[in-house]
Amino acid sequence: MDGDLIARGRASTVHDLGGGRLLRRAPGSDAEREASVMRHAASFGVPVPRVLEANGSDLVMERVDGPTLAAELLARPQQLAELVQVLAGLHALLDEVPPAPGAPWVGAETGEARLVHLDLHPLNVICSPSGPVLIDWTDAANGSRAMDRASTWLVLACHELPAEVEAIPGAREALVEAFLAAAGRERSRGGLEAAAARQLAQDLGERAHARMRALLASEGLAVPAP
Ligand SMILES: Nc1ncnc2c1ncn2[C@@H]1O[C@H](COP(=O)(O)OP(=O)(O)OP(=O)(O)O)[C@@H](O)[C@H]1O
Ligand SMILES: [Mg+2]
Repeated sequence: MDGDLIARGRASTVHDLGGGRLLRRAPGSDAEREASVMRHAASFGVPVPRVLEANGSDLVMERVDGPTLAAELLARPQQLAELVQVLAGLHALLDEVPPAPGAPWVGAETGEARLVHLDLHPLNVICSPSGPVLIDWTDAANGSRAMDRASTWLVLACHELPAEVEAIPGAREALVEAFLAAAGRERSRGGLEAAAARQLAQDLGERAHARMRALLASEGLAVPAP
């Protein structure tokens, strides 16, 4: 019994199991590893859905009620700066989380390394009545916190955004500016090259890739060949 399909991600289907439980099935993923990273993050104070069971590529977790941060941004654009601070706040919480045992490493294993989510953006934050909750821990690893902040920067600055946002002149720039003001430009910039190298290896569309290359160039950083 898989329950009703309530969402479909790029790599997963999400089913409502009833009783406040939800099944995320992501073929090929390691749900046990993801569950252990989520428990690790939770034990250091990061708000994540409570994990109930992990088996193969199936993760059963608490269903978190509320709109995504992306939906909130579309609904209340006049509060953009305040809403974007949620992303910076989650990054600040992650700064306190030591490497997770069993998680993969991105980059060198240094003493500075912390837990990194690497997909921290408005679609992966649920605004629950008790505060923001960070979901979608598939890409989580141990590595540089600057790279994690830079990954968010790249999503806001370069990925395809909903048509409603793209249609508003200056909306993307405002999102990026608000994020960097809250998360710290200097604390993010050092991770741009590594974050871009990772994202350029993903199929995000030619326009997103071109924007990433342009951003690297405008920051005076090395631009990988297409
Ligand atoms: N614990 C949860 N509570 C409520 N909704 C959830 C929860 N986990 C996932 N969802 C819903 O399912 C959607 C997909 O989840 P998730 O982002 O984890 O999957 P994904 O396959 O990695 O998606 P994508 O590739 O699109 O980022 C989310 O956008 C959200 O709407
Ligand atoms: Mg997601």
